[in-house]
Amino acid sequence: MTASDLTAWLPWTDRAGRASWIKLVTFLTMLAPAVWMLTEWRMGWLSPKPATDLVRESGDWAMRILILSLAVTPLRYVARFNRVILVRRMVGLAALFYTLAHVALWCVDLRFDWLKIVMELVLRLFLTVGLAATVILVALGVTSNDLSIRKLGAARWNKLHGLVYAATFLSLVHYFMEVRLDASEAALMCGYFILLMSFRAVRRRTTPGFINLAPAALVCAVMTGLMEALYYKLSTSVSVSRVLMANFDVSYRVSPALWVLGVGLAVAALAHLRARFGPKPARLARA
Ligand code: HEM
Repeated sequence: MTASDLTAWLPWTDRAGRASWIKLVTFLTMLAPAVWMLTEWRMGWLSPKPATDLVRESGDWAMRILILSLAVTPLRYVARFNRVILVRRMVGLAALFYTLAHVALWCVDLRFDWLKIVMELVLRLFLTVGLAATVILVALGVTSNDLSIRKLGAARWNKLHGLVYAATFLSLVHYFMEVRLDASEAALMCGYFILLMSFRAVRRRTTPGFINLAPAALVCAVMTGLMEALYYKLSTSVSVSRVLMANFDVSYRVSPALWVLGVGLAVAALAHLRARFGPKPARLARA
């Protein structure tokens, strides 16, 4: 590993060794949930089973940050903001960090009873699925350095790192299989995942703009609403139409479908504004 590789790993400098505000802010943001969880534990703010609480919290953060890591590249193109690429690796590694913390806390919760841990991983399908996602994330984390890119070659490395979508899909399945009463956040994460996949599909075919991103956002919002309704139908037999109607009632919560629509339209508007007033794509590609 060269000195410049080491510099790139520092959470507050860019590849040239200059201080980078975007890296520093991202680093502190990624650290905040861990600090919060540590504080909750130290101050005794958790239930009588703190490890169980922290398994859930760390799982939630692993999921959110994993989705965020997928948003970095689309944001780069839509917002024409090249420097955001500086934090892609850091966000991906943060997702891995929270995943490993989640698994480690689960082992703590089971008092490191290795036989039980292995049996649970093999016999409970939602844990087997989580394990598969974790194995992929570890493989991606281990090969996320410049040396691996050089060794594997850009094409093979990109192919390998495309597995992040499979890992996210498996993590979402793991999440949905574990949900008991309230599927809102699981549906929200699924909705964002579908939104990111659709924006990716749009970018592959054409230049992203309001005209193609806004309809994609609408379709993704409808899919999110349907998915949530289907989940409740299958798990509690609440009627699909009742859950769908609840999407329009914002008096007690903003539904996952509306969040997806709002975020999707905001990104579409950003694409429009940046296309009009931002740097031209050629300059963006060279930067
Ligand atoms: C070996 C791998 C894994 C194991 C053993 C594991 C274990 C668990 C367990 C036991 C729960 C249920 C907690 C409870 O309700 O008390 C859970 C929930 C969860 N896990 Fe995992 N998990 C693994 C991988 C992952 C991965 C890769 C992700 C995402 C990146 C993830 C995200 C979540 C989420 C979001 C929840 C729901 C938390 C909540 O109810 O608020 N897990 N996991």
